[in-house]
Amino acid sequence: MSKEERNITWQQSSLNRMDREKHNGHRSRALWFTGLSGAGKSSLAFALEKYLHEKGVHGYVLDGDNVRHGLNRDLGFTAEDRQENLRRIGEVSKLMVDAGLFVLSAFISPHAHDREMVKQLFEADDFIEIYVRCSIEECERRDPKGLYKKARSGDIPHFTGISAPYDIPENPSLVIDTEELSIDEAVQEIVQHLERIGALKLTNSVGNAMVH
Ligand code: ADX
Repeated sequence: MSKEERNITWQQSSLNRMDREKHNGHRSRALWFTGLSGAGKSSLAFALEKYLHEKGVHGYVLDGDNVRHGLNRDLGFTAEDRQENLRRIGEVSKLMVDAGLFVLSAFISPHAHDREMVKQLFEADDFIEIYVRCSIEECERRDPKGLYKKARSGDIPHFTGISAPYDIPENPSLVIDTEELSIDEAVQEIVQHLERIGALKLTNSVGNAMVH
């Protein structure tokens, strides 16, 4: 159905994203963490959130498990439900970027076409895909929530890496290997990457760059 048929029109705020970025003193971006369950997406996103917070950057983590407690509590793990999960989170992430925030979205997001759908919601520079790489063997060994064990015994259907696929990202902005790096090292890698691409530039109230 078209927007006209649905009787909806876009309502315009008198403030725009740039006003909010200036007010916050930094740019806004969407960081998308994808990887297997247990690879370290959430730990990394929360550690980076804390680091950015201490630097005065306003951010927020959208985490798969957490979002499924509320907003997406009606969704399961079929391919269709995962797609809807990611569509909603993509839209929420986009709103957060418009709000002037650094949004850190940590979702398995196993299907390349779903990640592409999310990416297409953003301007190219605004969306930074980070592949949190960890072998299935190591994720299963870590098994922080005991879910791999349950999946192996058949208690969890469609479990990513066991009974459901994970498409390895072909061209992510950054690959973080959590079998090689500690969380702190990984945070530093990401920060360096953000600095390299100019995504972390702080701005003063008139929008000029202050610090790199
Ligand atoms: S996604 O595939 O739709 O992106 P999401 O990141 O929201 O997944 O949720 C993944 C989390 O849900 C996992 O970290 C795990 O704790 C839990 N979970 C429960 N069932 C499954 C399942 N069948 N496959 C993967 N993760 C599951």
